[in-house]
Amino acid sequence: MRTVYVNGDYLPETEARVSIFDRGFLMADGVYEVTSVLGGKLIDFAGHIARLERSLRELDMKKPAVFDDLLEIHRELVRLNGIGDGLIYLQVTRGSDGDRDFVFPDPETTEPTLVLFTQSKPGLADNPAARRGIKVIGIEDIRWGRRDIKTVQLLYPSMGKMMAQKAGADDAWMIEDGHVTEGTSNNAYIVKGNRIVTRQLSHDILHGITRAAVLRMAREAQMQVEERAFSIDEAKAADEAFVTSASAFVMPVVEIDGVAIGEGRPGPVATRLREIYLEESRKAAI
Ligand code: PDD
Repeated sequence: MRTVYVNGDYLPETEARVSIFDRGFLMADGVYEVTSVLGGKLIDFAGHIARLERSLRELDMKKPAVFDDLLEIHRELVRLNGIGDGLIYLQVTRGSDGDRDFVFPDPETTEPTLVLFTQSKPGLADNPAARRGIKVIGIEDIRWGRRDIKTVQLLYPSMGKMMAQKAGADDAWMIEDGHVTEGTSNNAYIVKGNRIVTRQLSHDILHGITRAAVLRMAREAQMQVEERAFSIDEAKAADEAFVTSASAFVMPVVEIDGVAIGEGRPGPVATRLREIYLEESRKAAI
C-alpha cells in the first residue's frame, strides 16, 4: 500500500481524507503538477515548482508550502514508497470552507488542500512505445481559454483519450481554428526538413516543462526550432512528429488520423531528442 501526503501528514492511502466540500472536488478549483522520478531522483523539479507557483498566482490561490518544503515532501514520498522510476502527482486546491459557494472563501481563514502521491513505473524511460511510436487522431479543442494554467479540469482531455482509444489510436491532438494546440496531456511537434515546429506559448497551451528543456537542448545541439502554429494537414505531410511531457519525455508520433508520418516509424530527430533529453535530465536530476 502506498504512503501518500495530505496537509502535513504521511498516511496509508486508505486513511487519507479530504472534505466532500473541497473546492477541488466540487468545482475543479485546483491545480496540479506531475514530476517524473528516474533512478530515485526528481526530473526538472525546479521547473515544475515554478509553474505551480505561476498557476497559483494566476488563480489568486494561496501557496501551501515553500520550495524547500515541497522538495522535502517529494523526496520523503520517493523514500517511503521505494520509488526508483515513476511519477509524483501533486495537487493544490482552494480548500474547503465547509459548504458550497461560487464565491472564493476568505484565504485568511480557509487553507489550501495539498495532496501528493506516487505512481511507481519501473522502466519508465524504456517505454517500448518510444521504439514503435504512437498513433494520434485530430479532435476539436473545446477547452476553456486559460490552458496555460495547469488546472485539474481534465474531463475533456480524458474524453479525448477515450475518443482516441475508440478509433484504435493512442492519443489525440486538439485542433482550434484549423491549427493544432497540443496533445491531451502533452505538447505537440512536427519536423519538416531540418526544422522542428511547435506552437508558440500563449494562453492556448500549457507551457510544458519538458517542452522548455527539449527546445533548449535542441537549440544547443544546433537544431532549428520554429515556434508557431501548424495545421493538422501540415502535420500529416511532415517528416516526423512527436510529443513531450513529464511522463512520456519525448515520444515519437508515427500516424495521424491513419496517415503514416514520414516512414511510419520513429524518425531521427525525435529519437535523438529523446536520448539527449533523458541523458541531460538524469544528469541534472535532484
Ligand atoms: N500533462 N499539455 C498538457 C495539456 C498537459 O496536460 C501536459 C502535461 C503537457 C506537458 O507538460 P510537461 O512537459 O510540463 O509535463 C502539455 C501531465 C504529464 C499529466 O497531466 O499527467
